Amino acid sequence: MVEPGKFDALEPIEKASRDELQDLQIKRLKWSLQHAYDNVGCYRKKFDKTGIHPSDLKELGDLAKFPLTDKHDLRDNYPFGMFAVSMDEVVRVHASSGTTGKPVVVGYTKNDIDIWSRVVARSIRAAGGTHKDKIHVAYGYGLFTGGLGAHYGGEYMGCTVIPMSGGQTEKQAQLIQDFDPDIIMVTPSYMLSIADELERQGVDCRRLKLRVGIFGAEPWTDSMRENLELRLAIDAVDIYGLSEVMGPGVAQECVEAKDGPTIWEDHFYPEIIHPETGEVLADGEEGELVFTSLTKEALPVIRYRTRDLTRLLPGTARTMRRMDRITGRSDDMLIIRGVNVFPTQIEEQILKTDSLAPHYQIEITRAGNLDEMTINVELSPGADNAVRASSAGQLQKHIKDMIGVSAKINVLDEGGVARSEGKAKRVIDKRKL
Ligand code: DLL
Repeated sequence: MVEPGKFDALEPIEKASRDELQDLQIKRLKWSLQHAYDNVGCYRKKFDKTGIHPSDLKELGDLAKFPLTDKHDLRDNYPFGMFAVSMDEVVRVHASSGTTGKPVVVGYTKNDIDIWSRVVARSIRAAGGTHKDKIHVAYGYGLFTGGLGAHYGGEYMGCTVIPMSGGQTEKQAQLIQDFDPDIIMVTPSYMLSIADELERQGVDCRRLKLRVGIFGAEPWTDSMRENLELRLAIDAVDIYGLSEVMGPGVAQECVEAKDGPTIWEDHFYPEIIHPETGEVLADGEEGELVFTSLTKEALPVIRYRTRDLTRLLPGTARTMRRMDRITGRSDDMLIIRGVNVFPTQIEEQILKTDSLAPHYQIEITRAGNLDEMTINVELSPGADNAVRASSAGQLQKHIKDMIGVSAKINVLDEGGVARSEGKAKRVIDKRKL
């Protein structure tokens, strides 16, 4: 039996100096490039075409000479063509559906699952968890990496895991009252629905035992953090990850700093590139996040383009670097009459507006040659109907002033905006229908 609490303390590498960390990174990076080159046809072809060989990597900066990889490489090799080990060694697969085309399939060896569990355990610890905690997991189980990723990390840590998965909101609320979890792991948008349901059942959310919310899998803002922290009397922290790179637990915000997720750089090497030119940008500059796996066996990823827009920041609570909150995915950027808009910018303004609930959906239509943006929001429960028009006016003004676009605002009754049970669908683009 593993001694309880064995994983409550920081791992030595979390306290290592930058030099020690970089020594480890370079060693692992050499291994990962060679492993990908030797065992995955797609990487071998790409490296050969560029005229580069794993042995050309002498320092971390040399990574920029290697070709980038993206979702198309994985789709073109569907389902298992990017695996670097034989199927005998693959103990699990996951898949992310994406919005179009074939799913992206990812695989794990036993060792990969072990490392994944460890980085999620590390994430739970960074969020303020210990082995004594009960964790309610409301990320979906199944092909999505959220549920099982959180689950294995919680067990690794020695916590008591409640594998609720997504959906069955009434039951979620009931079990939270009955089992008294200390931590909840769920998308922030689904947390809102669960909180609504708890309140409908007459519960004062602030009086629950819940202490920490580990929220991620979709973009969310600091305003949403404040809203959730106030409503549930918890610490709300950000967890980041993507299936291709591992799943949840690629980066995790430390509860004592709440200043953006710390990237677990001993396993996932980050770069920021210019989304159009592919040029590597300096730390602090905003661009597209790219990852190279340092230890993954079944599915090594070399300079994988996440499409997520953010910047790299120096470490604070740990020596490892942080990433800023994700503004959005480059695919989710809306261009409304020439202005770039991300759903998170709209979220920020909704949360600043009196009498509006934090549920929203953005609809884009085209009238003639002009794009129109309509924001569907809800009146806060208990708000007087008389403030409907003034709330709409306020939000419209905030959006115009802060983002520079005109939007139509529909303030609906409670329940008027479709609820998510996982990742929220924030945009309905009717121009594409
Ligand atoms: O969403 C893995 C995950 C599960 C992360 C649970 C955190 C918690 P995918 O389904 O492959 O994997 O989607 C990955 O989701 O590229 C981002 O666009 C987005 N995303 C994930 N975490 C965050 C976050 C999981 N904290 C894609 N903030 C990523 C913003 C996030 N976006």
